Amino acid sequence: MRIPEQVHRLAIVLAIVIGGTLLTRFVIIPRSLVSTELHWAQTTQREATRPLKFAGSTACQDCHEDVAAKKAKSFHRVLACEGCHTPSIKHAEDPSAAKPTVLRERKLCATCHAYDPSRPTGFPQINVTAHNPLKACVTCHNPHDPVPPKVPKECAACHAQIERAKAVSSHALLTCTTCHKAPERHKTAPRTALPSKPDSRDFCGACHGQGAAGAPKEAPKVDLSTHGARNLCWECHYPHLPEGRS
Ligand code: HEC
Ligand code: HEC
Ligand code: HEC
Ligand code: HEC
Ligand code: HEC
Ligand code: HEC
Ligand code: HEC
Ligand code: HEC
Repeated sequence: MRIPEQVHRLAIVLAIVIGGTLLTRFVIIPRSLVSTELHWAQTTQREATRPLKFAGSTACQDCHEDVAAKKAKSFHRVLACEGCHTPSIKHAEDPSAAKPTVLRERKLCATCHAYDPSRPTGFPQINVTAHNPLKACVTCHNPHDPVPPKVPKECAACHAQIERAKAVSSHALLTCTTCHKAPERHKTAPRTALPSKPDSRDFCGACHGQGAAGAPKEAPKVDLSTHGARNLCWECHYPHLPEGRS
């Protein structure tokens, strides 16, 4: 059987390609460029000769026991000292030779606490422009043990918008706690102790149901069995600014 001419040509091309590749890999390119061991050794050497900048997360506690102890129990326990004070190895080796940076500007705290929808739910975030502007954060919060400085008495301290809406509504005279049972801890750790919310039509029905015993006279009445019967009341009426017929 005769081998076709095309196969001969293809074989020659293939031989050139394979030969060329082998030649390049083993003869033309020097070993130092392809040997991974050599690469590893040289990289380690190069990195090891670089000057160190960070002292590390345990280097500060020997001399700053008080700060370290306070921080270890605080909300900021996971943060590294040098994350806020910039790399400080020179200072840790000889405190009189160099001092770490002490940033007191609002932008330091804003890096982590400025409102950003991509942060996990529950992470304490503030609107930097509206949250006590013009003052350094550290005048009110200790950076090593940050907590809200005082417990607000009013729900409005944190829910100002809802309070403002309610104040001009026909529910103005109802207090927040008429409809929400709020644990005291909600005011210091809002997200870990959430208040209750009304969960049934009967809740509103207690004041608005026709013939409900003890309902306030001023509250307009509806027939609970027919009025918006298949939905929860607050699917149609915003409870903090309810609208009726007028
Ligand atoms: C060997 C002891 C020692 C170590 C380790 C050490 N410090 Fe200090 N640090 C001092 C002393 C002493 C001072 C006071 C210097 C002064 O006021 O002259 C000081 C002052 C400071 C200050 C205040 C600077 C200022 O301008 O008031 C900061 C912030 C600080 N250290 C942060 C750190 C951090 C962060 C580390 C860890 C990377 C660290 N220190 C490690 C001894 C140490
Ligand atoms: C969230 C950022 C942050 C972290 C984390 C942090 N600090 Fe500070 N630190 C500050 C700020 C801001 C000040 C300035 C406070 C002021 O002026 O009232 C400060 C002040 C200091 C001071 C000088 C004043 C003082 O309170 O004695 C020392 C010393 C200090 N920090 C050491 C440390 C050490 C040690 C750690 C780690 C255990 C640490 N810091 C972690 C932000 C931070
Ligand atoms: C590197 C990021 C980072 C920086 C910078 C930072 N924080 Fe924090 N902060 C955190 C983390 C993480 C928590 C703990 C969150 C948690 O427990 O859910 C926290 C918690 C807090 C809390 C507690 C909120 C509450 O629920 O009671 C306050 C207040 C606070 N930080 C203020 C500050 C202030 C003021 C500064 C600037 C001096 C600052 N933070 C800088 C990461 C940061
Ligand atoms: C004038 C005092 C004051 C200043 C200045 C201040 N705060 Fe606050 N901060 C408060 C009070 C009071 C609360 C608790 C009530 C509230 O949330 O408004 C609080 C609450 C917080 C919380 C907790 C919010 C939550 O939802 O858990 C964080 C985080 C916070 N502040 C960070 C900051 C940062 C960052 C700065 C600087 C950009 C700053 N604060 C400046 C007084 C202050
Ligand atoms: C220190 C600030 C603060 C104070 C004071 C405060 N709240 Fe809240 N409240 C919050 C935060 C933060 C949330 C959570 C919001 C979120 O997750 O979006 C919340 C959530 C709620 C919710 C929704 C619960 C849920 O399941 O969605 C209700 C209802 C509520 N608060 C009612 C109240 C009432 C009533 C008061 C007064 C007795 C009050 N709050 C006082 C900060 C506060
Ligand atoms: C008439 C009853 C009633 C009163 C009074 C009331 N709420 Fe509500 N609130 C509700 C109901 C019902 C919901 C649930 C709405 C839902 O699930 O969509 C709710 C939801 C909320 C929520 C979570 C959803 C949102 O709108 O952000 C917060 C926060 C809240 N209320 C705070 C307050 C505060 C603060 C006050 C006082 C200023 C107050 N409420 C007064 C009935 C009431
Ligand atoms: C499907 C939507 C819907 C639902 C659900 C609903 N409502 Fe209404 N409601 C309305 C509309 C629309 C009006 C105004 C027209 C009317 O009276 O039918 C109204 C009016 C009212 C009024 C004013 C009546 C007057 O005489 O001024 C009250 C009070 C009221 N609703 C209470 C409730 C209560 C309480 C619930 C839950 C048990 C509820 N509503 C559920 C849509 C709804
Ligand atoms: C403690 C009693 C009470 C409860 C509970 C209550 N309301 Fe009311 N509501 C009133 C009173 C009183 C008025 C009328 C005030 C006035 O017009 O003087 C009113 C007014 C209304 C109106 C009419 C608004 C208008 O402008 O015509 C609606 C709608 C309404 N409430 C819906 C609700 C819904 C929805 C709930 C449940 C989340 C609810 N209410 C819970 C007492 C209550």
